[in-house]
Amino acid sequence: MSKKNLNIGMIGYGFMGRAHTNAYCQVSHFFDSQHKPVLKAVCARDEAKAKSFAEQWGYESIETDWRKLVARKDIDVIDICVPNNLHAEIAIEAAKNGKMILCEKPLAMDSAQGLKMVEAVEKAKVANMVWYNYRRIPAVTLAKRLIDEGKLGKIFHYRAKFLQDWTIKSDLPQGGQGLWRLDLAAAGAGVSGDLLAHCIDTAIWLNGPMSTVSCMTETFVKERMHTLTGKVEKVGIDDACIFFGKFANGSLANFESTRYARGHKAAYTFEINGENMSLGWDLHDLHRLQVFDYTDESKIRGWKSVHVTDNSPEHPYMEKWWVPGLSIGYDASFTHQVADFLTGLDTGKTASPTFRDALETQQILDAILESAKTKQWVSVAK
Ligand SMILES: NC(=O)c1ccc[n+]([C@@H]2O[C@H](COP(=O)([O-])OP(=O)(O)OC[C@H]3O[C@@H](n4cnc5c(N)ncnc54)[C@H](O)[C@@H]3O)[C@@H](O)[C@H]2O)c1
Repeated sequence: MSKKNLNIGMIGYGFMGRAHTNAYCQVSHFFDSQHKPVLKAVCARDEAKAKSFAEQWGYESIETDWRKLVARKDIDVIDICVPNNLHAEIAIEAAKNGKMILCEKPLAMDSAQGLKMVEAVEKAKVANMVWYNYRRIPAVTLAKRLIDEGKLGKIFHYRAKFLQDWTIKSDLPQGGQGLWRLDLAAAGAGVSGDLLAHCIDTAIWLNGPMSTVSCMTETFVKERMHTLTGKVEKVGIDDACIFFGKFANGSLANFESTRYARGHKAAYTFEINGENMSLGWDLHDLHRLQVFDYTDESKIRGWKSVHVTDNSPEHPYMEKWWVPGLSIGYDASFTHQVADFLTGLDTGKTASPTFRDALETQQILDAILESAKTKQWVSVAK
C-alpha cells in the first residue's frame, strides 16, 4: 500500500523532542495507517545544536526561527515541544497557516489562553491533539475499557499521586535551559501544571468531569537565583500541590503532587475504587494493572496483578509488538499516540485528547490554583 507522507516540523529538541521523534521513527514499522510521518524539519534557536539533532535523528532540514517553520509549505504537522509559555503563540500561528498541530501538555498557561488555542484550531479546521501520553499505556487503556464496560459499578473514589524529589536542593537555580519548570513566567505553574496535569487528564478520561475542588499549595524554597537575570528572585511556582474534589458522577477526588518527596523520581500512581471492582496503576511498573474483583468467588478473591502484555486484542496495542509476556516501555505511549493520530487521519476522526478535551484539564488547574489562593472550594468553570 502506498502511504501518504505526513511532513513533521518539530519545535524543540529536548526531552519531548526526542520522545516524539522516536515515536515518528517507530510508528510505521509497527502500526498500519495510510499515513507515514516524515522527519522534515526540526527547529531550535541554536543552529549547531539543531544541525546535530537533525543529523542524529534523521531530520531533512533545520530552522532556527519557529515562525519560518510554521510558514513552510512543505510542512503538514507542527509538533510543539517547547516550554509552556510558547505553546499558545506557536499553535495559533500554526493554525493560521493551516497546519495540523500536536502540542505538548499542559495545553496552555491557563484556560483563557487555552480557549484561544481551541478557537484557533477549530476556526482553521486543522487536526489537533495534546500529548497526554499516559492514556496510551496499555495498562491504563485497559483500565479505561474495564470502566467503560461497567465492571466497576458505581465509582466512589479516585486518588492519584505524582511524586518527584529533584528540586529539594535550595541552591538549584530557576529559569533557562533545563530549569524553565521552576520559572513561573515559562511554566505558568509548578507541579500542578507539570505533573498533576497528567493525573487530571487520566482521571477525567477514566472517571468523567470534575465539578468542585479544594486545594492547598506550598512553595518550600521561596527564592532562587534566576539563570537568565543572574539575580536571586522570588519563586512563583507551587512546589507541592494537594487537592480534594468531587467528580460529576459523585465520586471523591484525592490528588497529590510534589517535587520534595525524597526517594521518588516519577512516582505516578492512581487507584480507583468502585462498588464491584478496584483498579490500581503505578508508572514504575507500567505494564501491570492491579485489579480487585469483588465478583470473584470469595475463597479466591484478592488483588491480582495483571501483566498487560498479552497480544490478544483485549490487551490494547500489544498485538502490534512482540510475543505475549514481553513488556514495552514508556516510549511506546508516544508511539501509540502517533498511531492513534494517524488512524484518526485515515478515518476522519481526530484522536483524543484534542485541544478542546485538554481545555478541561486546564479549567481544573485554574480552579485548584484559585482555591489554593482563596482557601475556598471552587467550582470548575466550563
Ligand atoms: N507528555 C509528557 O509526559 C511530557 C514530559 C515532559 C515534558 N512535557 C512537556 O513538553 C514541553 C517541553 O518539555 P521538555 O521536557 O521537552 O523540555 P526541554 O527543556 O527538555 O526542551 C525544551 C526545548 O525547547 C527549546 N526551546 C525553548 N525556546 C525555544 C524557542 N523560542 N524556539 C525553539 N525552541 C525553543 C529548547 O531549546 C529545548 O530544546 C513542555 O510543555 C512540557 O510540559 C511533557
